[in-house]
Amino acid sequence: KKVVLAYSGGLDTSIILKWLQTQYGCEVVTFTADLGQGEELEPAREKAIMLGIKPENIHIVDVREEFVRDFVFPMFRANALYEGLYLLGTSIARPLISQHLVRIAHETGADAVSHGATGKGNDQVRFELSAYALDPSIRVIAPWREWDLSSRTKLLEFAEQNQIPIAKNKRNEAPFSVDANLLHTSSEGRVLENPADEAPDYVYQRTVSPEQAPDQAEMVEITFERGDAVAINGEAMSPAMILTKLNELGGKHGIGRLDLVENRFVGMKSRGIYETPGGTILLEAHRGIEQITLDSGAGHLKDSIMPRYAELIYNGFWFSPEREMLQALIDKSQEHVTGTVRVKLYKGHARTVARWSDHSLYSEAHVTFEEDAGAYDQKDAAGFIRLNALRLKLLATRNARFK
Ligand code: ARG
Ligand code: SIN
Repeated sequence: KKVVLAYSGGLDTSIILKWLQTQYGCEVVTFTADLGQGEELEPAREKAIMLGIKPENIHIVDVREEFVRDFVFPMFRANALYEGLYLLGTSIARPLISQHLVRIAHETGADAVSHGATGKGNDQVRFELSAYALDPSIRVIAPWREWDLSSRTKLLEFAEQNQIPIAKNKRNEAPFSVDANLLHTSSEGRVLENPADEAPDYVYQRTVSPEQAPDQAEMVEITFERGDAVAINGEAMSPAMILTKLNELGGKHGIGRLDLVENRFVGMKSRGIYETPGGTILLEAHRGIEQITLDSGAGHLKDSIMPRYAELIYNGFWFSPEREMLQALIDKSQEHVTGTVRVKLYKGHARTVARWSDHSLYSEAHVTFEEDAGAYDQKDAAGFIRLNALRLKLLATRNARFK
């Protein structure tokens, strides 16, 4: 029996690796993704070898461009936010990881995949729905739902018995759980579990606090083509380079911090601290370019389906017909979302201050408060209002009779 494990090289997935070998009697293949989490991946290789994984069974893949091009950018075309605030940084990475797990399973003749998500969260759902959508006969092993290593103490004992090195700071309880990639860093658990207590400052890892941010504002110009960012300050860049650059700018100006209590798909509420510096700038800029290039009917329709689309991604239904149908609608809306936005970055805020496009629908001739040279006849508005008011007048008249 062979299983492909999503392996970070950290303590928890190292324990899972050993557990799969010893308790399950599986041959383990590891998959470690560079999603831009900002960690060296070679130590994960050394650790896997040390834990008895054959070199040919270790798969380390740089998926940063794929992540941004095929997952993050399509999602940003929708301006997706879960429950009004969360930019879905963890949610959108899970289907990509599952896709690679299933691919590697097929390539290595493995019949199962495994992940380190707990039985309480969203991530197990996302990993597994994605895996089953891509291969209905795949088996999924979720050690957190199966083993009896129910406490930190038992985990550490298991690690010690199996010669798994434990970093000094992990010997005592890790202060909280972190998931990071190019789009965001999220922190949950432990010191954050009481939503009545403000998060300590050390939780934030990739943004300065707005108070500490430079007193000097900074401008950034982002160019879009068909809804996707393609250049920064006039310089063409790959998707992952764009997000990397925006993260640098956003981090420096304290942009994209969020403290949120959200509803997990499995039913409970959880409190998380999110940092999405580049994504927050990108969302603002994308809305900025849509302001002048999207028709109101198109814009309002895509806004109305956005919460549904965001919920599908949050709940793990990336590989579902309904997500793909909504994506087709969103992508269609982006045909003319081409142009440039200037965003001002200042102490935690990213604000659109200018936008221009060859595809603009903005007509100064129509909107001007000055002489409009016959572009618009104000008298037309009288009939427009009269007919729109008709039913309101009939209602008011009827309602007056029943006062
Ligand atoms: N609550 C977020 C989500 O469901 C993040 C989950 C993973 N984060 C973590 N720190 N373990 O997308
Ligand atoms: C986990 O439970 O593994 C992390 C949190 C989540 O998936 O929601």
